[in-house]
Amino acid sequence: MDREAGLKVTAEEETGVYQELELPSMPPGFVYPDHFEWFVELPDVGRLKVRPIREQDAALLEDLFKTLTPHSVYLRFFSFFRRLPPGMLERFTRIDYRHEIALVGLLKEYGEEKMVADARVVETANAGTAEFSVMVSDHLQGKGIGACLLQNCLEIARKRGYQRIYGIVLPENKQMLALGRKLGFTIRHITGSREYELSRAFE
Ligand SMILES: CC(C)(COP(=O)(O)OP(=O)(O)OC[C@H]1O[C@@H](n2cnc3c(N)ncnc32)[C@H](O)[C@@H]1OP(=O)(O)O)[C@@H](O)C(=O)NCCC(=O)NCCS
Repeated sequence: MDREAGLKVTAEEETGVYQELELPSMPPGFVYPDHFEWFVELPDVGRLKVRPIREQDAALLEDLFKTLTPHSVYLRFFSFFRRLPPGMLERFTRIDYRHEIALVGLLKEYGEEKMVADARVVETANAGTAEFSVMVSDHLQGKGIGACLLQNCLEIARKRGYQRIYGIVLPENKQMLALGRKLGFTIRHITGSREYELSRAFE
């Protein structure tokens, strides 16, 4: 996919979901699918570059993590840490795209490309089921970036044949619950827990 083709997304798709994504046919293992990169024009944000994360993105991902408030870190990881632990950093950038989808959003800020969001869908031990997670820089939340990345991940997951995507969300996470509702997830309180499960089934 070239950049010009990627730009068509904005003209054709209000949702910014690139319909031709065919990640299922990607090369096996840790080979980076570098032909996937496209742009989405978001009001209030501008031209967001969307692409799969790659191994060399560790520094950019660390910088994204630093733009999260402690509250956002807690909502995303259910615990608090000041820096992304090295093991997690590696785990989040070294992706086996056969079993996982990880998309990042990048913006040019003062001529420099910054990673502002990360969304992923990871296969679980249950066949056909995968778990999502998503995070957006605090200063850019509420502008449609989370919805855009997650929707793209869901579209790839659907094309890949997953039957169910779910995520675990804390009750105080009104933004994620609202986003889940907007993206068609069913929301269920998990019995005996504080948490909610957002679940979406694909035909
Ligand atoms: C949850 C999160 C990923 C949402 O991403 P985002 O880019 O802020 O969300 P969007 O702007 O795409 O919003 C999508 C929808 O969420 C809802 N929403 C967003 N911000 C909201 C707010 N401040 N209050 C209430 N609802 C809100 C709205 O329904 C919105 O749709 P609309 O704009 O069409 O009304 C982001 O807030 C975040 O990173 N939070 C911290 C980490 C986290 O909680 N991750 C989720 C756990 S897996």
